[in-house]
Amino acid sequence: MQKKVTLNDKTFKLMIPYESIDQKITALAQQINHDYRDKQTPIFLGVLSGSFMFMADLMKQIDFNCEITFIKIASYVGTSSVGKVTELIGLNNVIEGRDIIIVEDIVDTGESINHLMKSLVGHKPASIEVATLFLKPGSYKKNHPIKYRAMDIGNEFIVGFGLDYNQLGRNLKDIYVLDEQ
Ligand code: IMP
Ligand code: MG
Repeated sequence: MQKKVTLNDKTFKLMIPYESIDQKITALAQQINHDYRDKQTPIFLGVLSGSFMFMADLMKQIDFNCEITFIKIASYVGTSSVGKVTELIGLNNVIEGRDIIIVEDIVDTGESINHLMKSLVGHKPASIEVATLFLKPGSYKKNHPIKYRAMDIGNEFIVGFGLDYNQLGRNLKDIYVLDEQ
């Protein structure tokens, strides 16, 4: 029997076990370590709440001096984007001249990340890249290339490892997908 979880009115089935997530994060960390080894103290900027678990696992494998900070934005209600992004908790770090790596749980339409990048550009960083645990290439509508991505998925709705369904499921160690039947 496949492992299932119920969150409010919906049932989800196991899709990606932690062991696979861990391998993908390790590979991504190696790529970032290689690319940033000559940079001056980059800032990892996590987007709350979804990125907290990915950030924790990724940072344990980053081998250069870096700063870690978080901001909070939201664009989702239920299982579909409401297309509106609100910044909830502002940024206190000085961004000017710094190399920024935005850490996201998932990039879907790209609306949230686009909004965030636009406001960060105003602070004149040296560079901005995105590191995401998941990318949905089928729904991504923006031009900015998502350089660092651990995994690509289709248009399915997933939960676990920081990702939520109406705030539930963030604590799950594995990734679960909506069980349509
Ligand atoms: P975007 O603005 O359309 O790119 O949506 C990005 C945000 O929507 C992510 O940071 C997530 O919070 C949420 N999101 C998108 N797809 C999913 C999903 O499959 N499960 C849970 N949250 C999702
Ligand atoms: Mg999010």
